[in-house]
Amino acid sequence: MVGIFDSGVGGLTVAKAVLGELPSHAVVYFGDTARVPYGSKSKELVVQYSKEITEFLLSKKADVIVVGCHTASALASDELKRAYPKIPIFDVIKPGLVAAYKATKNKKIGIIGTEGTIAAEVHEKMLKQMDPSVKVFTAACPLLVSLAEEGWVSKPETKRIIKFYLRKLKAAQVDTLVLACTHYPILLKDIESFMSRRGKKITTIDPGVETAKELKLFLEKNPEYAKEKAENVFYVSDYTPRVDRIAKMIFKKPISFKKADLKTK
Ligand code: DGL
Repeated sequence: MVGIFDSGVGGLTVAKAVLGELPSHAVVYFGDTARVPYGSKSKELVVQYSKEITEFLLSKKADVIVVGCHTASALASDELKRAYPKIPIFDVIKPGLVAAYKATKNKKIGIIGTEGTIAAEVHEKMLKQMDPSVKVFTAACPLLVSLAEEGWVSKPETKRIIKFYLRKLKAAQVDTLVLACTHYPILLKDIESFMSRRGKKITTIDPGVETAKELKLFLEKNPEYAKEKAENVFYVSDYTPRVDRIAKMIFKKPISFKKADLKTK
């Protein structure tokens, strides 16, 4: 099965993209709703949580792991790949950057994410390795997670906060913007509308979608992985009606969650 994890339910945007690309494969999802957010936590803690969750997903028959959380991808995916050398581990960073680099015409790329993701500077480093002449502009947008979870799409307050966070990227004339956080695709319309110039849209990249395409290519070449035919299963570490509400907003249909205790598995 394809194991996908996130700090919470935002990573369902990644699960949705994976199921869209791989409708006949089974997914086991874990959302760490008891310990969300990861965006403001230390690297040590995010690495520890990511390892615990990977163990859990492997115990539930996952044989491929997708680190759906951008913060965990930025802070912990290298450690995970070292700790589990035999398990194919996908993160949501490189596929989004490859797509952004292909899309940009003026070589000015914007990256937005949580404080942890932006402070880690992995996106700049990777883009500069691809092409040192690329100019990278980043912005941490912590409040956007809460606004997305509240479903505050197209509200004046949301538009104002988007303007506050993104105005420097707009002034820098980025032509491509990477949504390096699970929740930002929920606010896509508002982000696009603020960033567009004289009615012309910039290119926005959803790394979850790009990662799903990369995973599909991998499974086509390596059909021995994720062979298990099973129902999709969605676990959370704390279950509340809020979880159902956000899941429905992302999947456009209800999802049935199981509560999981990482210690007892
Ligand atoms: N899932 C996180 C990410 O993509 C956002 C929420 C959090 O801070 O945990 O970075």
